[in-house]
Amino acid sequence: MIIEVLTLFPEMFEGVLGTSMLKRAQEKGLVKIKVRNIRDFTTDRHHVADDAPYGGGPGMVLKPEPVAAAIETCLAENAPTPMCRVYLTPDGESWSQQLAEEFSQLPGLVLLCGHYEGIDQRIRDHFIDREISIGDYVLTGGEIPAMVIIDSVVRLLPGVLGNEESSRNDSFSGNGLLDYPHYTRPADFRGHKIPEILLSGHHKKIEQWRRQRSLEKTWRRRPDLLHKLEPLLTKEDKEFLRELASGHPPADAGGE
Ligand code: ADE
Repeated sequence: MIIEVLTLFPEMFEGVLGTSMLKRAQEKGLVKIKVRNIRDFTTDRHHVADDAPYGGGPGMVLKPEPVAAAIETCLAENAPTPMCRVYLTPDGESWSQQLAEEFSQLPGLVLLCGHYEGIDQRIRDHFIDREISIGDYVLTGGEIPAMVIIDSVVRLLPGVLGNEESSRNDSFSGNGLLDYPHYTRPADFRGHKIPEILLSGHHKKIEQWRRQRSLEKTWRRRPDLLHKLEPLLTKEDKEFLRELASGHPPADAGGE
């Protein structure tokens, strides 16, 4: 996969792309990530990338010419790889694990980071394929959203996570429920003991315990997800949820 990032602040990406999983994925050749400065595509003497908005009002708007030239360079240099052109903006489509899975199948991505009041609408209309928001809050620019997209997509590429199993049980993937709790040694940490069932060696019971913890957490924190999952729930799942809702959860159900 090829990922191109267009930004006015390329240095923001150094730490994130040069560390841990994203660094290793690039070293292994599983993804090629290139960060370009939009300012390098300006043609005036002072390298001005923004201008005042037509019609007045506060803030500055990214000029269309350098952004178009930057996108065209990404397409030309990676041809014939098709590049999906994505603009990060709080008024975009909501990012999700499902979209991360969809994007991880693409051969190429161009991530355009906005700043100031935004970019000229003609870029959005004629040079962009998808507009993405990472959540209902406003950041100072699209750089952190671009990093969120890169991280959540690249970890899904085959060979990136050491153990292919480890992304399957994540919250939001696989069974669609929130993740169950994880424990490691010591079994007693400052008097806080791990659930006894995990020491039993009884795989079926451990599986059932994890399923119930996932169901309970999802019921408490994200009931909206449970409603969507209704058709996939087993008879036992529904029975367990009924007990939770009745206020009489099974003895080891625990709480928040
Ligand atoms: N730019 C500023 N805020 C953003 C958000 N929430 N998602 C994507 N891009 C943004």
